[in-house]
Amino acid sequence: MDGRRARRSCLAVPGSSAKMIDKARGLAVDQFFLDLEDAVAPLAKAEARERIVGALTEGGWDGKVRSVRVNALDTEWTYRDVVTVVEGAGADLDTIILPKVSTPDHVRWLDLTLTQIERAMGLEVGRIGIEPQIEDARGLVEIDAIARAPRVEALIYGPADFMASVNMRSLVVGHQPPGYDVGDAYHYTLFRILTAARAADVQAIDGPYLQIKDVDGLREVGGRSAALGFDGKWVLHPAQVDAVNELFSPRQADYDHAENILDAYEWHTSAAGGARGAAMLGDEMIDEASRKMALVIAGKGRAAGM
Ligand code: GLV
Ligand code: MG
Repeated sequence: MDGRRARRSCLAVPGSSAKMIDKARGLAVDQFFLDLEDAVAPLAKAEARERIVGALTEGGWDGKVRSVRVNALDTEWTYRDVVTVVEGAGADLDTIILPKVSTPDHVRWLDLTLTQIERAMGLEVGRIGIEPQIEDARGLVEIDAIARAPRVEALIYGPADFMASVNMRSLVVGHQPPGYDVGDAYHYTLFRILTAARAADVQAIDGPYLQIKDVDGLREVGGRSAALGFDGKWVLHPAQVDAVNELFSPRQADYDHAENILDAYEWHTSAAGGARGAAMLGDEMIDEASRKMALVIAGKGRAAGM
């Protein structure tokens, strides 16, 4: 299990569509997930499971993080999703996205089930990670325990289901509900998820922006979670990929500045015989805290190949 995979862009691909699965292979996303949940009709789920096993074992995913979203635990489909996909393609799968997680017990169930299948199939136990989606009020209330549950690599915000769960009076994900003119109606939820993720040392991922042709709207809404510190965002369409990769990579000037801070601080520390303390970089005073901030930006930039 690797909790530090690059996840700037995570492409949602319906598990029922051979055409969209093929197209996904060529897109420049860090992660993709083959969906068995909301993108797949109930009668198409059985066939989609088999298609997903074929798509994963065939390969051609070019280093992307390979994920499957199973159905939520309040349906009759989840266990069959997990057993079919992991028995059939467990060695070619990096994480399972579990939707509508409202208690850490959901994650524990998946962890135990995965362990059973891994043992039975001779797979490495514990390699497959879990990404819980926080999509309702109960999940947000339980979020710290969910973040610390076994195998969790990232917390994912599910804005559409979440907005419905709290009765928010808006039909457009990320847009401010009419009548709420005192700030950003999403700030609390995003910052709560981010804080829980950082406290548990896992990644924080923003969910989808549904107006796929509105790239300006995507930039505005995604820009907020990127600025807060989220690691990435879902994309639903090829038109969204470049904007999201760019939003979740540092700006070139910030990246260059971060590398300069790290170089200057390292030089200063070794010149002072290893003693850490404050130093000057031009007119800017830098210290151990500056080094930590610079490491975050430089780390993201290096992961993005800057
Ligand atoms: C995603 O699953 C969402 O509900 O926004
Ligand atoms: Mg959802």
